[in-house]
Amino acid sequence: MSKIRVAIDGPVSSGKSSAGSRAAFLLNYRFIDTGVMYRAVAYKIKTQNIPLEKWEAAAKTTTFDWIGEPSKPTLSIDGIVIKDSLFSPEISSFTSKVAASPEIRKTLVSFQREMAKNGGIVMVGRDIGTVVLPDAELKIFLTASLDTRVKRRYEELIQKKNNISIEELKKEVSERDKRDSTRKDSPLQIAEDGIEIDSTHLTLEQVAEMIVKKTEEKEK
Ligand code: C5P
Repeated sequence: MSKIRVAIDGPVSSGKSSAGSRAAFLLNYRFIDTGVMYRAVAYKIKTQNIPLEKWEAAAKTTTFDWIGEPSKPTLSIDGIVIKDSLFSPEISSFTSKVAASPEIRKTLVSFQREMAKNGGIVMVGRDIGTVVLPDAELKIFLTASLDTRVKRRYEELIQKKNNISIEELKKEVSERDKRDSTRKDSPLQIAEDGIEIDSTHLTLEQVAEMIVKKTEEKEK
């Protein structure tokens, strides 16, 4: 039995991270949330006021280390762990602008491929099945209705002590989805051989179990 590469893509708060991490735990796989890498680069650019012409260099010289529990790792960038600040609505929105840069994508994609090369990994993002790991053995495209996704994101943000109204959040999520799906480089789309799972009426545990089952079928 060989451990495979599971690619999960989908729009904002479709459950990729929670279900992906849970599935990785159940499978004894590694979990990598590539959105956190884009967020970390955006955070660095924003907090260090890095001008546009130096964005590419900033991404290239960033060191990424995933530390802690393999199915729920924390990202350290340039030796520092920045946790909750990465998830503010302001950073979320700025991240999708930064992530439209082909140079930044190139740098992060090569790190991501390196991390996945030995298999036994669940990797989530927007372009994992289409660009990062086009030959992944299992590709999932996770969706949910906009209202469900906004509600999930709202609950996450409240836990992280971010203050935002549902209306503002709905606007931020819709704009980000639109930007991520219409950009020229690596837009969010389902891979040709991707399997769509609509999580609107499913619990994250049910989604994780579906991913585990499909992974085990591919492992045989
Ligand atoms: O997944 P998450 O919402 O944390 O991602 C934040 C942003 O990072 C996305 O809105 C998207 O612009 C970008 N992203 C990306 N490609 C990935 C993962 C995330 O462009 N593989």
